[in-house]
Amino acid sequence: MKRIVVIGSISMDLVVTSDKRPQAGETVIGESFRTVPGGKGANQAVAASKLGGTVQMVGCVGSDPFGQQVVENFKRHDVDVTHVQIIRDEVTGTAHIVLAEEDNSIVVVQSANKRVVFTNEELEHLLDEQAFVLLQLEIPIETVKQVTSYCKAKGIPVLLNPAPSQPLPPEVIENVTYLTPNEHECRDLFNGISVDDVLKRYPNKLLVTEGVHGVRFHDGRDVRHVPAIRANVVDTTGAGDTFNGALAVSLIEQDDLETAVRFAVVASGMSVEGFGAQGGMPTRQDVQQRLERV
Ligand code: RIB
Repeated sequence: MKRIVVIGSISMDLVVTSDKRPQAGETVIGESFRTVPGGKGANQAVAASKLGGTVQMVGCVGSDPFGQQVVENFKRHDVDVTHVQIIRDEVTGTAHIVLAEEDNSIVVVQSANKRVVFTNEELEHLLDEQAFVLLQLEIPIETVKQVTSYCKAKGIPVLLNPAPSQPLPPEVIENVTYLTPNEHECRDLFNGISVDDVLKRYPNKLLVTEGVHGVRFHDGRDVRHVPAIRANVVDTTGAGDTFNGALAVSLIEQDDLETAVRFAVVASGMSVEGFGAQGGMPTRQDVQQRLERV
């Protein structure tokens, strides 16, 4: 069985809950403040591991207390941290999150995540044909380019979650096996072309996540739609990450794409029922029980 290698961001999320989201120039009184492990890469690694994947995290943290805490968190979730580097002159990445009016706003400060860079020799050492690579866009774009082109040349599958939104060189889109933007990221990536039109262009590769509306992809004949599940929403942070981690787990088990998407949609839907990016992530058993009810 392949192992999932997540190359990506590791952060501490600093989360404020408030009734009201402040406008520019406005101050509001919040209700609570918590620090919880996050970062899109780390979240995807934890989601995949909770769902039964064998997961290796590749990334950087600072030599501060947050760095130690996020590494301990990986260990608690059985994520291999052999390739998580502690950068002596840096601090751990942080995400500054306001949870208000049933949605989140996030400012990410990359810090040590900017140091996720490799020589080609290091990549060769990290990745072999037993790897299934998960990538996002909170690390340098040069690294994303290098990893996707290396993996294409070696036939190693790559799932790229193009978040947060930013323009991507066309070769990155060509080199990945799966691309999972949400509808806004999809519009940004493909210059406003309608989702239906872009889906046709990238059958069995482009999967567009649409929150409560589920996920769409093209199977080579038609556009397939997998509806979301009903959930008691506590916190939507990390729902996309759970989707990507779950999709990777299901795909390496050789499930067909539609089965894999159904599994990932259920996992992602369940993840919003707990606080924090990782707090609501389900186990394999949780997802299986929920799937039986769908
Ligand atoms: O996708 C959710 C994640 O995005 C949060 O955990 C936060 O770290 C931000 O990077």
